[in-house]
Amino acid sequence: MKLLIMNASPRKKGNSEILSAIALKETMRAEVDSAEIIHLRDYHIEQCTGCMRCVFNEENCPLEDDFYAWTDRMATADALFLAAPTYVTSIPGSLKTLFDRYLCIPPLYKKLYGRPAISVGVASPIDWEHFQLPLMNMFLLGLGFRILDSFMVYGAGPGEVLLDRDQIDRVKGALARLWSGRKPEPFAEMLSDHCPVCRSTVFERIEGQRFRCPVCLSESVLEENGYRFDAGSMNQHRWTPERMEDHFQNWILKTKGMFREKLREIMRRKREELEK
Ligand SMILES: Cc1cc2nc3c(=O)[nH]c(=O)nc-3n(C[C@H](O)[C@H](O)[C@H](O)COP(=O)(O)O)c2cc1C
Repeated sequence: MKLLIMNASPRKKGNSEILSAIALKETMRAEVDSAEIIHLRDYHIEQCTGCMRCVFNEENCPLEDDFYAWTDRMATADALFLAAPTYVTSIPGSLKTLFDRYLCIPPLYKKLYGRPAISVGVASPIDWEHFQLPLMNMFLLGLGFRILDSFMVYGAGPGEVLLDRDQIDRVKGALARLWSGRKPEPFAEMLSDHCPVCRSTVFERIEGQRFRCPVCLSESVLEENGYRFDAGSMNQHRWTPERMEDHFQNWILKTKGMFREKLREIMRRKREELEK
């Protein structure tokens, strides 16, 4: 079993890097074949330009960067530990830029599907973190991982996370669960204050007391003591292979033909709006 540890902080010797080093050390203590840290900042990742060649022509992405070096590395992961700082309530732009290459991800998703991952977000203790775990977990679910554990730790300056021993123990405890080899079970109905699939605490109201998670589309009903999550919708969340395939086949691939049909009208309106 190989643990891949991904540090998504642009800051050298920062908290995410320290947590990554702790994960590496813990792994060496456990009976794990190998572990390796990759620093996202070492990979030069260009922005997706929306050319759609990867989807419509089934070609590799034409951008010249380290994207495929990164996917090759990721494909070796039997499990993943992801540490990332919070920037303006959310993930750093480098991680979002990487995830924006999502249209090229399906081959990697097929390899990684079902493998366990832990996400640890780092923030300052100021209540500016609401999108951090949902977006970290959207990235992980979009790669095919299942979220074994996901939580925040706090510390602003580099190394400040070390000052709270409990949160370091929380990291070590999560890693210990990773090695226990417990098989994933289908989600069962449950009462929770966060989404059991992706850990989001941000919900969209459908109607009345019914809510859904914007990250994974799991549905719940608000009760006095929390949200009661529906097993069916959790087990068919947005990032399952079936729904991913459906999204690609029945939306993304079809947009080409739909666009062609509308092209004459688009050109007419362009002239009307921009040339007259
Ligand atoms: C550009 C920038 C934006 C930040 N925005 C937030 C924020 O919105 N919420 C928060 O809790 N901390 C924020 N922080 C603080 C970092 O999350 C914190 O310093 C963390 O320890 C950084 O992790 P690192 O050392 O692994 O890079 C921000 C830091 C930077 C540099």
